[in-house]
Amino acid sequence: MSLLQSCIRGSLRTKTRLNGAKNISVGGGLSRHFSTGVLDKKQVETPLKEPVKPATGVLLMNMGGPGKLSEVEDFLTRLFSDSDIIPIPFQSVLAPLIAKRRTPKIVNQYDIIGGGSPIRSWTEKQGKLMEKLLDETSPQTAPHKSYIGFRYAAPLTEEALEEIKKDGVRRVVAFTQYPQYSCSTTGSNLNELYRKLKVMDKEGTIQWSLIDRWSTHPKLIQAFASRVEASLKEYKEEERDKVVILFSAHSLPIAAINRGDPYSAEVAATVDRVMASLGYSNPYRLVWQSQVGPSQWLGPQTNDALKGLAKQGQKNVLLVPIAFTSDHIETLYELDYEYCEEAKKLGITGIKRAESLNDSSFFIEAMADAVKQHLESNSLHTPQFPLRCPGCKNETCSEMREFFMKQK
Ligand code: FES
Repeated sequence: MSLLQSCIRGSLRTKTRLNGAKNISVGGGLSRHFSTGVLDKKQVETPLKEPVKPATGVLLMNMGGPGKLSEVEDFLTRLFSDSDIIPIPFQSVLAPLIAKRRTPKIVNQYDIIGGGSPIRSWTEKQGKLMEKLLDETSPQTAPHKSYIGFRYAAPLTEEALEEIKKDGVRRVVAFTQYPQYSCSTTGSNLNELYRKLKVMDKEGTIQWSLIDRWSTHPKLIQAFASRVEASLKEYKEEERDKVVILFSAHSLPIAAINRGDPYSAEVAATVDRVMASLGYSNPYRLVWQSQVGPSQWLGPQTNDALKGLAKQGQKNVLLVPIAFTSDHIETLYELDYEYCEEAKKLGITGIKRAESLNDSSFFIEAMADAVKQHLESNSLHTPQFPLRCPGCKNETCSEMREFFMKQK
């Protein structure tokens, strides 16, 4: 098996599972109760029941990704228009221009990973599995229904809110799918949710609470650790404990870190808990990927770290995505395609990438457990949530916090 094959094995597994995922019914409302549009005799004789109204909604928040190549430009336009993460002058004019310029390159990358991002399929599957588990483990808050609110791709926050309102749900947990809080990820999703709610639910008919971070949830740690263990087993026994584990997370501009963004500390906390659960079995480092533009970003960059390790003669390196829970372009293209190819050329013959959490049973248990614990706690958010970055100058961060902290 070539090194690239080794690296992309996770992606092939992903595609197989995604095909399976497409067969899962993900519709809400009537589709949950009636399997086809054709009524059989028994159904004709039995009066149709009203669909059961979900008692608890769970809004799964993430950045999302373009499902097909034709959606890439819209995705990038929304991303560059997000002043919560990329404040640029004349944003409404410049964002579409920057997006247009970058589109061909990004289209090529999505083309290489199969023509679109799998993040929606994974999130739908995760949501359905989590609902089922929650209905069993938390019957007092059942039935549960998951909704997806992506920041830059369909289904967008407003689409999720329309569905929630249509279903008549009165109690919703906004559950970030970024385990570690950053103002540029979860913060941006929550600012957007706050803005949309001001317009779409002026009367405040929905009661909200937040799982705004869950970076050290024990079952999440178990999910990551089991992926690492499975990958380490693929190395020869005599080499296994020398394999260098490189935990790779999306980088952030240094300006955000200096403003006081909690992300880097929370990612480090996840890494430490994962290594603790593995008994600190291997040497490891936390590295950062996906830097763009000329400004200074948090490092070391993943590809620079690989170059350095190659120079030191390291042959066996395991890349572990630690801030992404589902496969998307940063795992399937950047880690599998770019970095593994590069590492192979540099002589790291034993380069591998741990599978993303995707539909790991530990991960689904972690999601359900995080929601169950949250509902039982009756808390509106984590104790960390009220504190803004010491250097924050974004008034929406303040208004958004005030809004979610005043929920009854
Ligand atoms: Fe962190 Fe506003 S930028 S709270």
